[in-house]
This record gives sequence, C-alpha cells and structure tokens, in this order.
Amino acid sequence: MVNVIGLGYIGLPTALMMASHGVEVVGTDYNAELVATLNAGHTTFKEEGLDELFAKAVGAGVRFTTEYQVCGTYIVSVPTPYDKVDKKIDPAYVVAACETVLEVAPEGAVLVVESTVSPGTVDRFVRPLLVEAGREDVALVHAPERIIPGNMVGELLRNNRTIGADDPEVGRRVAELYASFCQGEIAVTDVRTAEMTKVVENTFRAVNIAFANELAKVCRVGGMDVREVIRISNKHPRVNILQPGPGVGGHCIPVDPWFLVGDYPETANFIRLALQTNASMPEYVLRRAHEAMAEHGIADPAKVGIYGLTYKEDVDDVRESPTLQMLESVEEHLCGHAVKVYDPWVERDVVPGQVHSMEEFLDGLEVVVVMVGHSQVKGRPEAFGDRILVDPRDVMGDGENVYKL
Ligand SMILES: NC(=O)c1ccc[n+]([C@@H]2O[C@H](COP(=O)([O-])OP(=O)(O)OC[C@H]3O[C@@H](n4cnc5c(N)ncnc54)[C@H](O)[C@@H]3O)[C@@H](O)[C@H]2O)c1
Repeated sequence: MVNVIGLGYIGLPTALMMASHGVEVVGTDYNAELVATLNAGHTTFKEEGLDELFAKAVGAGVRFTTEYQVCGTYIVSVPTPYDKVDKKIDPAYVVAACETVLEVAPEGAVLVVESTVSPGTVDRFVRPLLVEAGREDVALVHAPERIIPGNMVGELLRNNRTIGADDPEVGRRVAELYASFCQGEIAVTDVRTAEMTKVVENTFRAVNIAFANELAKVCRVGGMDVREVIRISNKHPRVNILQPGPGVGGHCIPVDPWFLVGDYPETANFIRLALQTNASMPEYVLRRAHEAMAEHGIADPAKVGIYGLTYKEDVDDVRESPTLQMLESVEEHLCGHAVKVYDPWVERDVVPGQVHSMEEFLDGLEVVVVMVGHSQVKGRPEAFGDRILVDPRDVMGDGENVYKL
C-alpha cells in the first residue's frame, strides 16, 4: 500500500493516478475540510481531466483520511515555501510530515519525498530525523515532480521522471511504482543529484524568461518588436528563447531558483539577477499602463482595470501571480484605492477590488491591463469593447489601442 501525504495540486493527482493504475493508495491530508470534500466525492481544484481521474480512482478504491497509514511506501507531497527574507527553503512542512511518517512506518518502509527541495535538504533535515528516531531502517528517496498546472493529468502520464535513492535497488523499486502510470523515461540516481536537477530545471526556465524580459525592455528602448526578434532568432537550430511577459508566477519557477541563491549567495549571482529581472516585470507593465493613460489623456486611476488574477491562463491558481505582485505596487501608488480586477477562473474573493462578472468589470473602465490570456478573451479584443488594452502577453493581436510590452 502507498500512503500519499499532502493532497494538494501535486499529491492529489499523484494519488489518483496510482490508484487508477492498480496501486492500493490511501491519501492523507491534515486539512480535515479538504479530506471531507474529497470523501463527499468532489475534487478540490479545477484541472483538465481531474474529475474523470478522480471518478476512476474512487472506483478503484482510493481512500482519503487525515490519518497516516501503516504501510510500505510513503510519498510526501507537502509545500516547500521559501523564506522571503533569506531566500532559503523552509523545510518545516516536509520535516513535520516525515516526523509523523516515522512514528507509524513499519520496519524497512520507503519514505519518498516528492516535494521540491533544495539540494542537500534531505541530508540536512530529513536524514537526521531517521537518526534521532533510531529509524535508519527506513529507506530515503527523492522523486521530484515536473507537471505543469493546466496539463497535469497528461504530463503525469507522459513526462520523464527522476528518482534519487541512497540504495539503487530501492530506487529501482520506486521507479517501478511510478512506472505503474508513467510512460516516460525514469532516471534513477542519488538523492542529491535528484534534488539538484529539479531546481536546475526550474532555474533554467526562470533564467530563459528573464532573458526574454530583458530583451523586451531593450527592444522597447530600441524601437524593435521583441516577439518578432525572438521568433526569428528561434529559427536558429540551437536557440530557444522563451517569451517575455508580465512576470513569473506559480508555486515553482519564481520560488525554486531562490533555493540556489539562498544556499549559494556568493556564487549564484546570475540567477539572482534573473529573478530580480522577472520580479521587475509587473512594475514595468504598470509603467506601460501609465504611458497608455498619458497618451490618451486619462488621469483617473479608477478608469483602469486588471483582467486576470491567476499566474497563467485557464487555471484557478493565483499563487505568486504577477497580478498579485502588481497590486502590491499599485496599492502603494494609489494610496489604498482598490483597483478593479476580474478573473473568470477565480470565484473566491482574493483581492479587495475584485468583481465577479465581465459586465461589472468593464463598467466605467477605459483601460484594461490583460495580465492573463484566458481562453475567454485570447485573440478576442472585442471582449473588452473598444477599450485601450495593455497586453504584456501579446494575446490581443495588433491594434492602434493595444500596448504591448
Ligand atoms: N503546484 C505545482 O505546480 C508543483 C509542480 C511541481 C512540484 N511542486 C512541488 O510539490 C510540492 C507540493 O506542492 P502543492 O502545489 O501540491 O502544494 P499544496 O499547497 O497544493 O498542497 C499541499 C498539501 O499538503 C497538506 N499538508 C501540509 N503539511 C501536511 C502534513 N504534515 N501532513 C499532511 N498534510 C499536510 C496541505 O494541507 C495541502 O493540502 C511542493 O514542494 C511544490 O514545490 C508543485
């Protein structure tokens, strides 16, 4: 039996995927409300294909509880935030979950840390727990996850994976467990290499996006179209530049690279600069909005609204989203004036000026900053009437009143 600990964006689909592929799975989360929702037959977030997977897994016997189980394999998928001051990983959730596992795990159990961790976290924070508890019989494994919100189910099935284990034989067994559903290649390595590869993958993307963002700024000053420059540059067989945008959000790309900066502050200078470049983008978009307002003689900030609260299109996840980052600076500029915000994917109230229909949103606005290209509006500038659009993601097409990065 496998006990998946933490039933959030990663743990829940993983538990469901294993269960629907014949593995006996119990999902555990200490959030009783979340467990009650799952037991009432409802998923806890929106994701393409998740409801179907949930139904299949429930049919196959998956169970949800707040209790840790006595079983052979534990998969820990709890949050790993970073400390916003010293930029180091906050391992508290992983440590707490592993401690509880060790209280119930039978001899020889396998403890898989699936949460993203900085290189050395298992050695520094998890291995000592085994030593203190006299539980060195428990085998440690790190199996980081690569899936992207919006395509989690498809990517769980098809992505390549990494398994890092102290004992290659245990690594092979855990690889077999993931192979119950994973059609990709599964690389088996040691724990620290697995930790590093996960962080490196997200850092690569953060740095590439920062490069594109810097190009956008250079092209604006130089009067060039950055998207055209990137499109043509990417025709080179060995160039693959990502796209610029209003900033980087989500739980991974703006967070994980800081683990390297936090742990190697003297060395990871280039990575730090890349993260700072990405973090400057919401403010940069705001400056574009001010330029648009000035050119049209609009002075009243109440005439400007923000479309999109999530960190990417067609998901309901707002964590670290560029819009939230932008609102922090807007609030400073506007002395408490609540900017009107609308996101069709976010029903719950997240920010003060949030409204819940397009009609209410557009009422009284002259400028819309399109922070997210949800399918509702992508390629459809008419969705915003004849308003001036600030379009950092380039999803509104060309037009006299469309301001790109
Ligand atoms: N969200 C993503 O797109 C993504 C992608 C790849 C990797 N990751 C990594 O996966 C890990 C999990 O992220 P997530 O997005 O699923 O987080 P999440 O916040 O959506 O879910 C975590 C869950 O763990 C539960 N939890 C926390 N401590 C617990 C404990 N001690 N016992 C039982 N339950 C506990 C919480 O109640 C919550 O439901 C993180 O390390 C993250 O960096 C996330």
